[in-house]
Amino acid sequence: MEVNSSKVEHIPVLARTLLEQVNLPRDGVMVDATIGHGGHSLLFGKTLGPNGVIFALDVDKKSIQGAQIRTKDLACKVFYICGNFSQIGEFVRQKGVEKVDFILADLGLCSSQLTDTDIGLSFQTDMPLDMRIDKRIKTSAADIVNKADQKSLADLIYKFGQERASRRIARFIVRQRRQRPITTTGQLAAIVCRALGRPGQKRSRIHPATRTFQALRIAVNNELENLERLLESASDLLAKKGRIAVISYHSLEDRLVKNNFKANEKAGIYKIITKKPIVPSREEIAENQRARSAKLRIAERK
Ligand SMILES: C[S@@+](CC[C@H](N)C(=O)[O-])C[C@H]1O[C@@H](n2cnc3c(N)ncnc32)[C@H](O)[C@@H]1O
Repeated sequence: MEVNSSKVEHIPVLARTLLEQVNLPRDGVMVDATIGHGGHSLLFGKTLGPNGVIFALDVDKKSIQGAQIRTKDLACKVFYICGNFSQIGEFVRQKGVEKVDFILADLGLCSSQLTDTDIGLSFQTDMPLDMRIDKRIKTSAADIVNKADQKSLADLIYKFGQERASRRIARFIVRQRRQRPITTTGQLAAIVCRALGRPGQKRSRIHPATRTFQALRIAVNNELENLERLLESASDLLAKKGRIAVISYHSLEDRLVKNNFKANEKAGIYKIITKKPIVPSREEIAENQRARSAKLRIAERK
C-alpha cells in the first residue's frame, strides 16, 4: 500500500475561520471525524498541550497512515481510528471518554483520493470503477451500474446526483451493459456524455458526468446516512459549550446539517453559531480549488 506523506497537498479548508470560531482548551478533547491528510488536526493539535486529546478518524486506511506521519510530532495524544464516523460515540467511549469539546467533520474527499486508482472514482482518468473509500463495503459502483434495474438506477442518479436527465442516463447505461459490462470510470463517463449529448467538457463548466458520479459515490459509501448518524451522536457527545463544525460540499449534505442544527436549537440543545453558512473567501478559493463549494456550519452545545 502506497502512503505518500511527502506529497501531502491537502490544504485545510476554512482554517483561519475555524481557529477563530473554536476556542479549544489546551487540555481539550477534539474529534476529527475525517482526518484525511491531517490538515485540520495539525492546525488544532498545535493548540493542544500534552493533556489534550484528538480522536482522528477516517474510513480510508491510506489517509490514516499519511495523517499519522504528518501529525506525529504533536504534543497531545492522538488516537488514530480507521473507522466510520457514524460510530463515533462508540469509538470515543471505548477509550473511556464521555464528553468532547470539539467535533469537526470536513466531508467529501481529499484531492488525492480523486486520483487514487484503488478507489476508482475519477471521470477525468480511466480507472477501474469502484468508488468504495472503505474496502469493507461490499457493493461497488460497478456492481450497481451492472446489476441495478433501470428504474432504481434512474432514481439513485436523480436522488443523490440531482441529475434531471437521470432516466435517459439509466437507459443508456442499461443498453450499454447488455453489450459488455461497465468496468471502468472512462466507460461510464463516456456513456453519460453520450446520454447527455455532450461528448466533452467544452460546453459546460462542469463535466457532464459529475452528477452521476456524485450520485454513485454517495450511494456506494452510504454518505448521507453516515452523516445523519454522526449528527445524531454529536449532541450527546459534546460537553457544555463544546462546538460542532461541519464543512459540506453539496446541498444534500448541507441540508442535513442545517436541519439537524435547527432541530437541536428548537429542542434547547444547541445554539447555532453560524446563522448562515460560512463560505471561503475568493482568495482562499483561488489558492485551493477544492474549497469552492465548501459551506461551514457551527453549533454550540448548551
Ligand atoms: C476532505 S477530506 C478531510 C481532509 C482533512 N480535513 C485535512 O485537513 O486533511 C475527507 C476525508 O473524510 C474521509 N471520510 C469520508 N467519509 C467518512 C466516514 N463516513 N467516516 C470517516 N471518514 C470518512 C475520507 O476518506 C477523506 O479522507
